[in-house]
Amino acid sequence: AASADDLASLQRFSVDLIAERLPHYNWVGFYMLDPDDENVLVLGPFHGAATEHVRIPVSEGICGAAVAQGETVIVDDVSADPRYLACSIETKSEIVVPITAAGKIVGEIDIDSHDLSAFGAGDRVFLEECALIFGEFIEEHSR
Ligand code: SME
Repeated sequence: AASADDLASLQRFSVDLIAERLPHYNWVGFYMLDPDDENVLVLGPFHGAATEHVRIPVSEGICGAAVAQGETVIVDDVSADPRYLACSIETKSEIVVPITAAGKIVGEIDIDSHDLSAFGAGDRVFLEECALIFGEFIEEHSR
């Protein structure tokens, strides 16, 4: 059964729900690895202001770092992190959580906050659980 539409629908629903329920999550979006060039992340469904960063090489940004390191990255103060690629001048902190399917990173969830140090252990646990669910969904729908 074809699935790209199903995944996009789940992602759109999720970014809206997560952003609306969690007021300090000011931008919520997906970046997925380009199947034709796995060194590049491509912007997927998002909730929040439009961004110029539609394609991000995995060698760049907090977004790239999460893929390169293969783990969640939390930045308490983006202005102090040289890797940071600015999307909005209002953004103060960021969390990026990789999504793994069938043992490979396929993309990530990216959240920006207008508050400094907005993301703690609870956010990490919550978003890593979300990432597991998206990864399982992708696995089941790509068979
Ligand atoms: N800040 C990210 C770029 C994506 S925007 O936050 C939507 C980064 O440094 O990779």
